[in-house]
Amino acid sequence: MSGGAEERPRVRLGVLFGGRSDEHEVSVSSARSLMHAVNPERLEIVPIGITKRGAWLLGQDPQLLTEGIVPAAGPDSVELVPDISHKALVPVHRDGLDHRTSVVDVVFPLLHGPYGEDGTVQGMLELAGVPYIGAGVASSAVGMDKALMKALFVQAGLPVTTYLVFQAHEWRADPVAVLNRIETQVSLPAFVKPCRLGSSVGISKAKTRDELWASIALAVAHDRKIIVEQAVRGREVECGLLGNHIPTVSVFGEVIAHHEFYDYEAKYTDGLADLIIPAKLTATEVSGLSEMAIRAFQAIDAAGMARVDFFIESDTRRLILNEINTIPGFAPTSMFPKLWEASGLSYGELVERLVELALERYAEEHQ
Ligand SMILES: Nc1ncnc2c1ncn2[C@@H]1O[C@H](COP(=O)(O)OP(=O)(O)O)[C@@H](O)[C@H]1O
Ligand SMILES: [Mg+2]
Repeated sequence: MSGGAEERPRVRLGVLFGGRSDEHEVSVSSARSLMHAVNPERLEIVPIGITKRGAWLLGQDPQLLTEGIVPAAGPDSVELVPDISHKALVPVHRDGLDHRTSVVDVVFPLLHGPYGEDGTVQGMLELAGVPYIGAGVASSAVGMDKALMKALFVQAGLPVTTYLVFQAHEWRADPVAVLNRIETQVSLPAFVKPCRLGSSVGISKAKTRDELWASIALAVAHDRKIIVEQAVRGREVECGLLGNHIPTVSVFGEVIAHHEFYDYEAKYTDGLADLIIPAKLTATEVSGLSEMAIRAFQAIDAAGMARVDFFIESDTRRLILNEINTIPGFAPTSMFPKLWEASGLSYGELVERLVELALERYAEEHQ
């Protein structure tokens, strides 16, 4: 044991994983990796599994959630609730609310998509008065909503591809009018996306008017707000950001998907996409993209971390901003941790840095 002034107290890091979104399994596997990668002398991981139906279970083994096993009532099936009067997430035992001490110091909402990355969990953590990793409520909500995100990017003068937004009810009332509107504003091929999902769920590429119809039918099954974007032909590059004010930019990575685009399968099946780190870019491209990444982070008022994704258009070499992700994929094989590893920060150090940033932001906001 190294004694003396350098010794820091061990932080209890609540890792929220699983959840109600389509990205439940992705989150579970990231959580499992994280639990084994951190330095136990610095961080005590408190696993908090969220079932697909939304129950919060303290001390849950991620493996069990993956297998769909929900423990029966018992000492290890404790649910957690926010308790603002104690600034805590408190366990509610089956025998009632009798344990008034928090079980965590900081929470990592390692949840992707709706009910995790979209500000809802962040709002609950704000109510509970518990510090947490990553963006706050509004920023998370904006980062999850491709229409709101793009609107803020445009307002900040950041380059995005031509796009149009419509509501599912408009489609149901008059699909031909919606198709006509799309065809006058966006040229095909185009990407049709539910505004508030992730991992490419519900996204498809349409090359013809008939395909556009099918793409929209798919998207409206997932969300009531739809975005149609002109397809960019070019390379896909990404970077990681860390910080609360002017974030540090990682090295860049390139995604080469072996499918038509970086769809759900390509994202999560070995061998269907290559991640090239560092991406082969000119110094001018790196500085242009880095500046855009920081501006994108600030445009949505992100905090802690983000991954920013770009296109470099083949014909023009134009840099185009695709999106910002406030809770990027966090498996050791995911782009975000790999980018930081290539930038000199190991997976465990990355988690420690995120905890520090969460505590700093909390202190700043609760002076
Ligand atoms: N406008 C576009 N032009 C070209 N490819 C696109 C476009 N929009 C999306 N894609 C492809 O679809 C993938 C998923 O789209 P994205 O907007 O990043 O959604 P998600 O939030 O689900 O990751 C991208 O990684 C890219 O491969
Ligand atoms: Mg994406």
